[in-house]
Amino acid sequence: MAFAVSSKIIFFLLLFLFLLSATAQRYGNVTLGSSITANKENSTWVSPSGEFAFGFQQIIPGGYLLAIWFNRIPERTIVWSANRDNLVQEGSKVQLYADGRFELSDPSGHRIWTTTISHDRVAYGAMLDTGNFVLVNNSSVVLWQSFDEPTDTLLPTQTLNKDGKLVSSFSKTNFSRGRFLFTLQYDGNLVSYRSLKGYLLQIFAYWSTQTIGSGFKLIFNRRAILEYDGVLKHYVYPKSSNSAGARSWSTINFIPSNICTRITQSTGSGACGFNSICSLGTDQIPKCDCPFGYSVIDPNDRMSGCKPNFVAQSCDKEAHGTEFFRFTDMPNTDWPLSDYAYFQLVTEDWCRQVCLDDCFCAVAIYRDGKCWKKKYPLSNGRVDSSTGGKAMIKIRYNNGTAY
Ligand SMILES: *[C@@H]1O[C@H](CO)[C@@H](O)[C@H](O)[C@H]1NC(C)=O
Ligand SMILES: *[C@@H]1O[C@H](CO)[C@@H](O)[C@H](O)[C@H]1NC(C)=O
Ligand SMILES: *[C@@H]1O[C@H](CO)[C@@H](O)[C@H](O)[C@H]1NC(C)=O
Ligand SMILES: *[C@@H]1O[C@H](CO)[C@@H](O)[C@H](O)[C@H]1NC(C)=O
Ligand SMILES: *[C@@H]1O[C@H](CO)[C@@H](O)[C@H](O)[C@H]1NC(C)=O
Ligand SMILES: *[C@@H]1O[C@H](CO)[C@@H](O)[C@H](O)[C@H]1NC(C)=O
Repeated sequence: MAFAVSSKIIFFLLLFLFLLSATAQRYGNVTLGSSITANKENSTWVSPSGEFAFGFQQIIPGGYLLAIWFNRIPERTIVWSANRDNLVQEGSKVQLYADGRFELSDPSGHRIWTTTISHDRVAYGAMLDTGNFVLVNNSSVVLWQSFDEPTDTLLPTQTLNKDGKLVSSFSKTNFSRGRFLFTLQYDGNLVSYRSLKGYLLQIFAYWSTQTIGSGFKLIFNRRAILEYDGVLKHYVYPKSSNSAGARSWSTINFIPSNICTRITQSTGSGACGFNSICSLGTDQIPKCDCPFGYSVIDPNDRMSGCKPNFVAQSCDKEAHGTEFFRFTDMPNTDWPLSDYAYFQLVTEDWCRQVCLDDCFCAVAIYRDGKCWKKKYPLSNGRVDSSTGGKAMIKIRYNNGTAY
């Protein structure tokens, strides 16, 4: 009997503790005056269902991103962030002030980020189950929402309005603004661009829907992300599964289906950096590689382009040094817009020789009796079975080894 009573008490005690911890973790509303500090405690504002959390994620030691992420999966996939170009130190704080200001500030109180609204009528904030963080007034009118300032991701129910943009991350692990932009233009056209240097100074459309004038909004029914490699992907996370482990995001489609061949611009480097070769792996993910005899400029950034590992051929008439150069063949490879000379009805040997004798020739392309001489920087490089022919890469050799 005593045992039964005490077990009942323990049951209610446990239930009470469970409810207590559940309410402690599940913030419906963020009241004025609330704040979160960037530190190891991982305090967050969680949506009522627990699906999404708002708070800080440590990206590098001592570097925090103010973000929203999927909170019920181990990957804690980030869907939005406030300070992607400017990680903050430990001790930084995001605060919803009593006067309605919503600000991220560093430990010295310096403001890093804030919402762009007149804040005086904000009554509370809320992390919603859709993944949207909102600031609301007393008549439940949303004054600011993270959905209006997307980073690289669109969630179901989130709309990309006219002039709305997604900007890809720099890499898989670096959330800074990267090289690709996806936008719904004012003219209603949906376009992807590649930027040259982090910032969108020079941009080139590589995909568009040609829907000028139709004036629509863009809504996806899945998580859509503009990946760092420029591909817009739709993902699903399998909701239920018999086995506990081995669940992860799976891709349901890609736009464009092959970015390596899709981007062909007379200016810019193409999907990868200059002198690179883009190819689609069996996983459909674009890869940037260097030709034989070349190496990547920044080993931490496969998209930074490639440089030759050898001293260029001299253009000096006396010291041409053709004997030091040889060719490495790469089938189905081309840099389609880098040619400066074109010959027809020639043989492969002739094509090779004409490139060898020319100090400006970096690569010769031979296909069906046609020969192209290619110059630096090589751009839009790709290897794809639809290309045909071969690229002959001119490389300096020293005693049998490339250098
Ligand atoms: C948030 O606050 C509003 C207004 O006070 C209230 O109507 C709503 O029910 C609250 N939501 C939660 C989840 O507490
Ligand atoms: C905070 O999150 C990190 C990364 O998910 C985890 O390793 C750590 O144990 C968490 N700390 C606390 C106090 O929950
Ligand atoms: C919202 O309404 C509550 C209750 O009526 C009031 O105490 C509060 O000051 C109001 N907040 C704003 C920002 O108007
Ligand atoms: C909330 O904002 C809306 C739109 O700006 C406004 O019409 C309404 O009066 C505001 N409500 C309060 C209580 O301030
Ligand atoms: C991310 O990449 C940018 C651009 O190269 C660089 O400036 C920044 O330092 C990188 N951030 C991290 C955390 O590595
Ligand atoms: C090339 O290799 C041969 C034999 O291995 C050697 O005798 C010769 O000195 C080498 N020449 C150069 C320029 O390294």
